[in-house]
Parts: sequence; C-alpha cells; structure tokens
Amino acid sequence: MLRVVQWTTGNVGQRAARAVIEHPGLELAGCYAWSNDKSGRDIGELIGVEPLGIAATNDVDALLALEPDCVVYTPKFPQVDELVRILEAGVNVVATAGFITGHAFGEAGLRRLQAACERGGSSIFGSGANPGFLNLIGLVSTVICDRVDCITVTESVDSTGYDSPETEKPCGFGRPIDDPALPAMAQAGTAVFGDAVRMMADALGLAIDAVQFEAEFAQTTQDLDLGSWQIDAGCVAGIATSWQGRCKGATVLNLKTVWRKGEHLEPDWQVEHAYLVEVQGQPCVSTRVQFYPGKDFAFSTFKELMVIGMIATAMPAIHAIPAVVAAPPGIVTYADLPLTVARGMVRQG
Ligand SMILES: NC(=O)c1ccc[n+]([C@@H]2O[C@H](COP(=O)([O-])OP(=O)(O)OC[C@H]3O[C@@H](n4cnc5c(N)ncnc54)[C@H](OP(=O)(O)O)[C@@H]3O)[C@@H](O)[C@H]2O)c1
Repeated sequence: MLRVVQWTTGNVGQRAARAVIEHPGLELAGCYAWSNDKSGRDIGELIGVEPLGIAATNDVDALLALEPDCVVYTPKFPQVDELVRILEAGVNVVATAGFITGHAFGEAGLRRLQAACERGGSSIFGSGANPGFLNLIGLVSTVICDRVDCITVTESVDSTGYDSPETEKPCGFGRPIDDPALPAMAQAGTAVFGDAVRMMADALGLAIDAVQFEAEFAQTTQDLDLGSWQIDAGCVAGIATSWQGRCKGATVLNLKTVWRKGEHLEPDWQVEHAYLVEVQGQPCVSTRVQFYPGKDFAFSTFKELMVIGMIATAMPAIHAIPAVVAAPPGIVTYADLPLTVARGMVRQG
C-alpha cells in the first residue's frame, strides 16, 4: 500500500481523496487544509463520505512527519516554496495545480524544484484533463503515423456555468476589451499549456526553437450575470489562446483553448463543447473527446454535473501515483512514465 496525503479538498481534491480511498493500492494517510475552518475537521466530512477518523490539518510538518509516499497536490494556486518543502522532505508529488514540466514557474522556480527532488530523492509529476490527458491523447494518436506535421489540441467550451472568478479574472475575463494588459494576463493565466507543449515535444524527440503564445478576446455586448460575479457590457467574456511549439519556422504543436461566456458575445465564437485532437501527417488523425456522466451518476444541477470534469482532472494524477513513486528522482512527465491507466479500478461483476 502506498500512503498518500491529499493537499486541499476543493473541487478536484475531493474527488482525488475519494479515489485514493477507493484505490486498492493506495491508503489515505492525511490531508492538508488551506482554509482555517477545515483544519481539525474529519477528512470524510470534507469530501462528502463517511467519517474516516483522520482530521485535516494546516500543520505541514505534522503531515510530512507521516512520511507519506506521495502528496496529491490540488490547491487553487501552486506555490514553489510549498512544493520544495514537500519534495525535499523526500515525498513524491502528483499535481493537477499548474504543473506539467515546471517551466511555468520560470527558470528559478524550475531549478529550485529540480534541486528539491535531488535533495529529497523524490519525483514530481503533473497532469489533469487538459493539460494532461488530452496531451497524452495527442501523443498516442501519432502511434499510427509515419510522418507528423502538426498536432493540435483544442478545448472548445462554453464556460458560462464554471464559477471560478479567482482563476478566470487573472486570465482577463471581465476586463475592458481594449485593456492593453489582456495578452500578458492571458499568457500568465494559461502558462501551464506552455509546459504541455514542452512535454509533448520531449515525448516526440522534437527540438523546438520556441514556445509562442497568441490570444484573442471577445466582449459581451450586454451585462452578464454569472451568479457570484458580473461581466459588464464591453468587457471580456471570451478568450481564445494558442500555445505553439515552433520548429524551423513552422508550428508543430498547437494547444488551443476557446472559452466563451453568455449569449451576447462579439465576435460570436461558436464552440464545440468538446476537445478536438488533430494530427496533421500521414495519415491525419482526428479525435473528438467529450466527458459525460455514466448511467448511475445522479445530478440535478450544473454544479453537480461539473463533478465529471473534476473526476477527469483528478484521476490522471491518481493513476500515476505508483509509477511516480517508482520513478527516479526529478521532474517526470508522460514522456518518462509507463502507461498510467485505471489499473485496479475496473468494476468486476
Ligand atoms: N489540468 C486540468 O485539467 C485542470 C482542470 C481543473 C483544475 N485544474 C487545477 O487543479 C487545481 C485545483 O482546482 P480546483 O477547482 O479543485 O480548485 P479550488 O476548488 O478552487 O481550490 C482548491 C483548494 O485550494 C485552496 N485554496 C483556496 N484559495 C487558495 C489560494 N489563494 N492559494 C492556495 N490555495 C488556495 C483551498 O483549500 P481548502 O480545501 O483547504 O479550502 C481550495 O479548496 C487548480 O490549480 C486548477 O487550476 C487543472
């Protein structure tokens, strides 16, 4: 059994902790609470299951003293200092929070993480649905190709019901459409997709010359009520980004997002409500990926339906735990790990 500490119990963390409990090879040893009011409460209560007899805590030393094999790191915003502390204590990390290769933390942050892994003999891996799983689909799609010209992964969704102003506002949502800061905001807010470009290039043995970023913005022409916040008319309610891996002047990898909110968008971008994975090459390969609830999944509100996306984000990290624990120290990606499928979680009978 591998002993796991869950780091926060937000949307993704709750599903991750539940999966750790269900997983035949994992044991939930503890839980970090970022919110003061969660510290001291039973983990089961925080994740919506029966009491487990283990309290969440904000005492990092106490959690590291448990000597867990792995931390499942799912806070809203990742912190290099916090990751360094965990890794140099010899604890492996699987993350959904802003981490694929560590380049999004800048050169200094990346070096600190590498050094912490060396000191602790530990490894860190990041995934999620997108980035993460969808990049893997792009890579796996090339298995049948004798030539690859370009891989494009596009997330094309209406995010009106996704209520996360703290993560969406820093990307530029809600800012005046003519705000000159918008491109830089969108770049910083989606930087982890640049990591994903590097990871895919590495897996393909591709030396990219540059990772480039482009963005477009669309405004709402009427005030938009999003429940917990509002976007005024004339402000950003649509963001389209493109993170490109360039090689000898050509785009060989293109990770795109198209997010729109509300009914009154200008330009009126149409979305696919799906992820599109396209390999241009020989042959060309086209895949449309959609997540939807299974037959026994009960939901009555949009928020409850969003749980499907949270499961899809948590599980690539959870399934990777045994391989990450077994990996040599350092930053590891899908380019390094064996297949990390839902081993041990097939329902029998
Ligand atoms: N790759 C993907 O496909 C993908 C998809 C979705 C999300 N994500 C990432 O996964 C992570 C978790 O997402 P989520 O929706 O579960 O997040 P969330 O519910 O908004 O927040 C997770 C937890 O972070 C803690 N927290 C709140 N404010 C914080 C702050 N200012 N700094 C640090 N921690 C804070 C809280 O811990 P407590 O539980 O103690 O209150 C909160 O429950 C995020 O980094 C998100 O960007 C990745």
